[in-house]
Amino acid sequence: MKIETIKTKRLVLRPYRMSDAEIATKNLCNKKISRWLSSLPSPYRIEDANNWIGKMIEERKKKEPQTIAYVIEYEKKMIGAIGLHGIVFGHKAELGYWLSEEFWGKGVMSEAVTALVSYAFRRLRLRRIQAGTFVGNSGSEGVLKKCGFQHEGLIRNDVKKNNRFVDCNIFSRIK
Ligand SMILES: CC(C)(COP(=O)(O)OP(=O)(O)OC[C@H]1O[C@@H](n2cnc3c(N)ncnc32)[C@H](O)[C@@H]1OP(=O)(O)O)[C@@H](O)C(=O)NCCC(=O)NCCS
Repeated sequence: MKIETIKTKRLVLRPYRMSDAEIATKNLCNKKISRWLSSLPSPYRIEDANNWIGKMIEERKKKEPQTIAYVIEYEKKMIGAIGLHGIVFGHKAELGYWLSEEFWGKGVMSEAVTALVSYAFRRLRLRRIQAGTFVGNSGSEGVLKKCGFQHEGLIRNDVKKNNRFVDCNIFSRIK
């Protein structure tokens, strides 16, 4: 599938390149970011980023990829990532994202989420997009509420992170 670049007022969402591994690793080693993300190797190494990007490059060769991942660029530099996982074309997917700490609090992720959700409803014909946030992640809850997601409930012990079970809030937008 051709992953189209998505442009917003300030940002460009584009497919990953192998050369993104270094910046991704630097950010995913930041505990203020990694503590809120599930399924992340810890400690996070450059090989982990290389593996992930390699998988994404393979995945997008499929007619209907299960994951579509984008780099978020601001002034031609990678500042974060956003993606859809578990995609069922014509039906649903799960949203995930992270942003470099120095860019927090400027409305960047709300801008990226708004653009990706609109693209997914239009071009992937999705009818439901969901996102799960660990309990206490007020930043991510803020993004989702600002982007019109509704809280659906709390999933107890949903994720195992660092040998602990974490409760997750589930949010969704439907079309
Ligand atoms: C969550 C994250 C992506 C937020 O990105 P951001 O660009 O700073 O978010 P925005 O600026 O678009 O904020 C959207 C809304 O959420 C609110 N918000 C953002 N961070 C917040 C925080 N730490 N606490 C409370 N509210 C917050 C904002 O106030 C804003 O609402 P407003 O415009 O009405 O004031 C970023 O903090 C991050 O990468 N965190 C670590 C990784 C992570 O949590 N990923 C998501 C996993 S589910």
